[in-house]
Amino acid sequence: QGRYTVSLIEGDGIGPEISAAVKDIFAAAKTPIVWEPINVDPVLKDGKTTIPDAAIESIKKNKVALKGPLATPIGKGHVSLNLTLRRTFNLFANLRPCRSVAGCKTPYDNVDTVLIRENTEGEYSGIEHVVVDGVVQSIKLITREASERVLRFAFQHARAIGRKKVRVVHKATIMKMSDGLFLDVGRRVAQEFPDIEFDAELLDNTCLKMVTDPVPYNDKVLVMPNLYGDILSDMCAGLIGGLGLTPSGNIGDECSIFEAVHGSAPDIAGKNLANPTALLLSSMMMLRHMGLNEYADRIEKAAFDTLAEGKHLTGDLGGKATTTEYAQAIIAKL
Ligand code: IPM
Ligand code: MN
Repeated sequence: QGRYTVSLIEGDGIGPEISAAVKDIFAAAKTPIVWEPINVDPVLKDGKTTIPDAAIESIKKNKVALKGPLATPIGKGHVSLNLTLRRTFNLFANLRPCRSVAGCKTPYDNVDTVLIRENTEGEYSGIEHVVVDGVVQSIKLITREASERVLRFAFQHARAIGRKKVRVVHKATIMKMSDGLFLDVGRRVAQEFPDIEFDAELLDNTCLKMVTDPVPYNDKVLVMPNLYGDILSDMCAGLIGGLGLTPSGNIGDECSIFEAVHGSAPDIAGKNLANPTALLLSSMMMLRHMGLNEYADRIEKAAFDTLAEGKHLTGDLGGKATTTEYAQAIIAKL
């Protein structure tokens, strides 16, 4: 079997430690992946923040990247590198599944949600300005083109994972034009997929129903504009025990970047305490995206068995294990 080169953005704070854990586990599983570490420290080009050319070329060449957390400045300062990456490579769909993890107790069991977030526009377009002092406008940009491609992706993904229902989550009662367009495109795209049921739900109602009982969502694929997806995906993560346990994939036509959604946790950085599960599960999504399902299944089982056993949990999950002890426990099960 051939080998595949993957660009690796280790990330800030705990990034290098959790990346090391993933690399160790991949090596132990004899996964045919060659890592190509890249530096994405921001550079200015034509007055805009971007990433170095070498990083762009690496991702374009390899078509697949794995990414640890990158710190995002709040308020003023350069544009988030996370967003820069999504924009640079036109990663239009952000896939965020949340499945209950045995051994990680929450008030819910059997959560198995699949959320797809539009990833290039909406409230994340970055179009903001001061009208007059004390009055600002932030533009929520919705286009038919971007809506159509993410909605089509949602239906295709539903088919691929064997779900028969796609639901648009929206606020078209208030955002009549922008969400109205998104919803309307959803109805049209649905006609191309007669095997899949289509419906819609108001975002606030989705939140209320999901925290009351998430199980009715286990047969659906939810798809929504950018900011709603940002918020609702964190809420779904909360149902299963937090961002430390959830994978995420930014999917584009040319390349895809799989990433841990949690922050860089500077307070515990360098202390061998971080939980690498989110990055590891993202790398499982990556392996499946590359067609390396057998490796993904084997590593994922070892990780879930380790979590279920509960003997080598990191501090965030109530255990005492270090990052490396947890990784070694997974490796021992491979
Ligand atoms: C996410 C994160 C990012 C976002 C931040 C880090 C820019 O919260 O991936 O959900 O808001 O999209
Ligand atoms: Mn978020």
